[in-house]
Amino acid sequence: MFLTQATAAAVREEFGTPCYVYDRSTLEAAARNALAFPNAFGFTLRYAMKANPSHSVLRLFLGLGLHVDASSEHEVERAIRAGFEPGRIQLTSQAPARGLQSVVDRGVLYNACSLTQLENFGKLFPGREASIRINPGLGSGSTNRTNVGGPGSSFGIWHEHLDEAKALAALHGLRLTRMHTHIGSGTDPVVWKRVARMSLGIAGRLPDARVLNLGGGFKVARMPSEKSTDLQDVGAHMKQEFMDFRERTGRELHVEIEPGTALVANAGCVVATVIDVVDTGKDGYVFAKLDTGMNEVTRPSLYGAQHPIDVLGGEGRDAAKVVFVGPCCESGDILTPAPGDPEALAPRDVPRPCVGDLVVVGGAGAYCAAMSTINYNSYPQAPEVMHEEGGKLRLVRRRQTFDQVVENEVGQG
Ligand code: LLP
Repeated sequence: MFLTQATAAAVREEFGTPCYVYDRSTLEAAARNALAFPNAFGFTLRYAMKANPSHSVLRLFLGLGLHVDASSEHEVERAIRAGFEPGRIQLTSQAPARGLQSVVDRGVLYNACSLTQLENFGKLFPGREASIRINPGLGSGSTNRTNVGGPGSSFGIWHEHLDEAKALAALHGLRLTRMHTHIGSGTDPVVWKRVARMSLGIAGRLPDARVLNLGGGFKVARMPSEKSTDLQDVGAHMKQEFMDFRERTGRELHVEIEPGTALVANAGCVVATVIDVVDTGKDGYVFAKLDTGMNEVTRPSLYGAQHPIDVLGGEGRDAAKVVFVGPCCESGDILTPAPGDPEALAPRDVPRPCVGDLVVVGGAGAYCAAMSTINYNSYPQAPEVMHEEGGKLRLVRRRQTFDQVVENEVGQG
């Protein structure tokens, strides 16, 4: 935890709660760790910006030399506005790009994620180099909802359709020089390595392929009981696989990875306040209601994801088993569900909270501000603050005003 109690109090004093806080040195350390990914024949680190598209985060990663994985044309625009050269951005999207012509004309790399997308690309850009995303037939995620490989997933071109992809490429004179797979988030490292090997096998059938992007999905421990994937270990394994591939084929492939979570998850938290404490009797539960919940940290309600929760200043109080909930009129607005089961309550052992206590929800740098249910119950979007080296707190996104909540409604005002 990068915030001291005094800093959390300063955040509340200056910006109010709930408020996201990101830590520059933790972000930088995570990026440097990923930049050291072992490789045999060249390496590119793409930041999956969907995890946290804040301008401040993008600027930091730009300065460190990262490239970008964008999942929509809007993300492409955001990355360009942050200063990324289009050639450092790859668009990997579920949706066929409406503005494909202009995206590619700008120099953005396009990764065709279906046969339709490949055909659209081929019609507009015959004779070019192209990239395809393959569903290699196996996936793995922290839950089924974050698994994007295998027959139950619509992501990428199914591996058995590779010949159709090659035929489409031939029809439009495309050279398939880049191949991509991404099989889930919170992927089991054993499955990740296995799929990477399978992906190399598929790349072996694409004679023009020079670059293999193996996606992101590396597990990150937010809770003490969880275990992070060791990028050095995975990378060393892949390095050997790439060297073996050269032995077999004479081809040297450049490797890319595109983590989101691993670069930002533990560099962010939400500073919040206990707004009420209620209980449901002797056989029931104690609930601490916070001013943050699914509107800032949706992952627990969506996946049963676990985030650390610290009640600050509670030392010396009686311990209690407490269910933390958010302020929304929604029974699913729960911050402490059972792991992997958003419907079950899992009380945490903490000092008994009191109204007004400061609380820090950790592990909130990835898919929290980016994936929030903002404005539910008309709560305004929370601000974001960068905790700079030296302890300075820099506002990077203001709290939304009430007028902004309703500004696009026709007939307002
Ligand atoms: N590449 C592609 C094509 C992706 O779709 C994703 C994530 C990533 C890379 C980065 O995956 P990461 O390293 O962050 O696991 N919202 C979920 C995870 C689903 C993300 C979807 N795509 C979460 O809160 O954990």
